[in-house]
Amino acid sequence: MRRFEGRAALITAAGSGVGLGVALRLAGEGAAVTVWDRDADALAGAEAAAAERGLEVGTRAFDMTDGGAIARAVETLHAERGRIDVLVNNIGGSLHTPFRFLDQSDEDWERVMAVNVAACVRTTRAVLPHMVAAGYGRIVNMGSKAGRYGSLFAGANYVAAKGAMQALTLQIAQEFGPHGITCNAVCPGAILTPRVRGLLAERQTPETRAGVLQSIPVRRHGEVEDVAAAIAYLASEEAGFVTGASLDVNGGQSMAI
Ligand SMILES: NC(=O)c1ccc[n+]([C@@H]2O[C@H](COP(=O)([O-])OP(=O)(O)OC[C@H]3O[C@@H](n4cnc5c(N)ncnc54)[C@H](O)[C@@H]3O)[C@@H](O)[C@H]2O)c1
Repeated sequence: MRRFEGRAALITAAGSGVGLGVALRLAGEGAAVTVWDRDADALAGAEAAAAERGLEVGTRAFDMTDGGAIARAVETLHAERGRIDVLVNNIGGSLHTPFRFLDQSDEDWERVMAVNVAACVRTTRAVLPHMVAAGYGRIVNMGSKAGRYGSLFAGANYVAAKGAMQALTLQIAQEFGPHGITCNAVCPGAILTPRVRGLLAERQTPETRAGVLQSIPVRRHGEVEDVAAAIAYLASEEAGFVTGASLDVNGGQSMAI
């Protein structure tokens, strides 16, 4: 499929992990993809991964906790590409803060809210005027199974932050639908990136992990490609009648526990 021919897509914090999978998927379908990340080595790896597939991705290295840097990066991107059709607000994570609510400090909350919510709000605020001017846009927010049903290994700060992203999705969808812009969230269960493998090994016993697997109807954990496929659909032109949705990408796990 070449659903993104002539489209420009921005995917945040996508030098590695889920975001990189999304970047490769959209580039593979013809999008002019730009990837942001604070880790220059990860961005070099993303460029190499794209090149291996005969693709190209544009990159920009900066820390997205800097709101001014986000605004500048959006303006540069728009000047370079002349358009921003797709925004995937991928940045987020539990930042290895404690699992238990009573062990979490104000700083744990502030850091997690900063990357999962504030960075996405600022990016969306900078990108939306360009989408409104074009009369077209697809925004996909990264929610989580955690934000819908709670988490077995990430704490309350992360759960609340993802819940906020899912709620924000509803309001952006309502406000900008009349401008040809859709906004949806994907809500993955555990996706086996190297980081998540490490976190599961640290916070769950082998017995617990086996039990969790039994609670997933499709009897496997998610892969980056599972999330990329869901995002590619929501980011495509053909998904124009789907907005304000939170799409579970969790093998049915939410039905079972
Ligand atoms: N992996 C999962 O199991 C899973 C499940 C549900 C939802 N999610 C969500 O998917 C998204 C991606 O998750 P992941 O596991 O691939 O992430 P990750 O922790 O592997 O990070 C991906 C990239 O983000 C970059 N990054 C981190 N902080 C940054 C900052 N301040 N500025 C710029 N770049 C920064 C890192 O350098 C890294 O390359 C997150 O929003 C996460 O909450 C992940």
